[in-house]
Amino acid sequence: MKLDKIPPVRDVFSSKMGVIAAAAGSAVGLGNIWKFPYITGVYGGAAFLFVYLGFIALIGLPIMLSEFMIGRKSRSNVFGAFKNLAPNSPWKYVGLLGVAAAVMILSFYGVVAGWSIDYIVKSVTDSFASKSPAELGSMFTQFIEKPGLPIFYQLLFMLMTMAIVIIGVKDGIEKYAKILMPVLIVIIIILDIRAITLDGAKEGLYFLFHPDFSKLTADGVLSALGHAFFSLSLGMGTLITYGSYIGNQNNLAKIALQVTVADTLIAILAGIAIFPAVFAFGIEPSSGPGLVFITLPNVFQQMPGGFFFSILFFLLLTVAALTSSISILEVVVAYFREELKIKRTLATILATVMISIVGVFCSLSMGLFKEQTLFGLNLFDLLDWISANMLLPLGGLFISLFIGWYWGRKSIEEELAKGSKLSRGLITAFIFVLKFIAPGAIAIVFLNGLGVF
Ligand code: TRP
Repeated sequence: MKLDKIPPVRDVFSSKMGVIAAAAGSAVGLGNIWKFPYITGVYGGAAFLFVYLGFIALIGLPIMLSEFMIGRKSRSNVFGAFKNLAPNSPWKYVGLLGVAAAVMILSFYGVVAGWSIDYIVKSVTDSFASKSPAELGSMFTQFIEKPGLPIFYQLLFMLMTMAIVIIGVKDGIEKYAKILMPVLIVIIIILDIRAITLDGAKEGLYFLFHPDFSKLTADGVLSALGHAFFSLSLGMGTLITYGSYIGNQNNLAKIALQVTVADTLIAILAGIAIFPAVFAFGIEPSSGPGLVFITLPNVFQQMPGGFFFSILFFLLLTVAALTSSISILEVVVAYFREELKIKRTLATILATVMISIVGVFCSLSMGLFKEQTLFGLNLFDLLDWISANMLLPLGGLFISLFIGWYWGRKSIEEELAKGSKLSRGLITAFIFVLKFIAPGAIAIVFLNGLGVF
């Protein structure tokens, strides 16, 4: 293994499997299982799904490869990466944008992960038994509006995230991601089978796969773009940071493709588990952030072994959230560590405390501070909206411009020659997308979504 350019203080993933597991672990999380179904429901189903898939293939995949390239070439945190590769230029502020997005995302992400922990406890104590869909709905709402317990679980989750990040990339991140992800996929497939055999399941599949593009709004298209970034962990330097830990012998293009496919499949599988059940149990598909937490307990109730499956599901959802949250925190930690020149432990504690404080207010904005809104959104929704629909697409825009225009063909070919063998045609297509298609599409969707046209 050639580790020539890597300074000895930086971590490197120990194997190719480790790289894929960590990157897929980052991508697969609450975005796939909680957020994707709920916003697909809000924006009307299949049409949203298809636009989302289009963005994944056309914009997500090339930008993921770009982030890996930037990270591996610079061997640095997001801010440092742009500083190294484009010295004395304003590019480094793209990195700063990423750090800000990371703080916002992890603030509300920790809240939802906390809900998942509470649902492990509810599963263990058999709290879903013989409750009607309406009762399960109010059980969720009453819980998230409380000021105490949700914050307790959220902080517990943040502490776990902190502990893993302190241990470091190699011992912390790789190990956890590798084993548990496959188990989660198996559980979701079992849920799929139960869901599509429910009475009335057809309507849910129709909702998810039969597009009616007239239902699509500008806001919906922007959300599909934002979620493509969110789900693939793009646009704020997570995969730049992880890329900086990838060895030169690894095939970046192949890894990017594998991670993109896996992430997208899991989102669709989660959709198949949820929408048939949504319709079978008469739940409103557009009911918002509670959709998964309200729908799945109904499914668990109606399946043999549901008690165990529900424990296992929420346990693994929490683990999936952890392998993502560590990748978000790592962006801030790597930045603090290398730019403020402080130790990993101190950097991690500092970042965790900062994010947890904002997070507590996100949690309170579901209940106590429900009425405090901006543009009609509470703090939780506002941070989600700004980060996913503004900061990540903007980050993606700059990353594509950076690779497409600033780097140029020679550097791209050089970086891709390490470990990958892309044909000249593919490289040309890649550059064309980054130069014109991705920035153009992002700019149009963004301005359109903000109502500029
Ligand atoms: N992709 C993760 C999920 O779907 C969340 C996540 C991790 C993320 N790193 C990110 C989102 C970076 C945006 C940017 O749950």
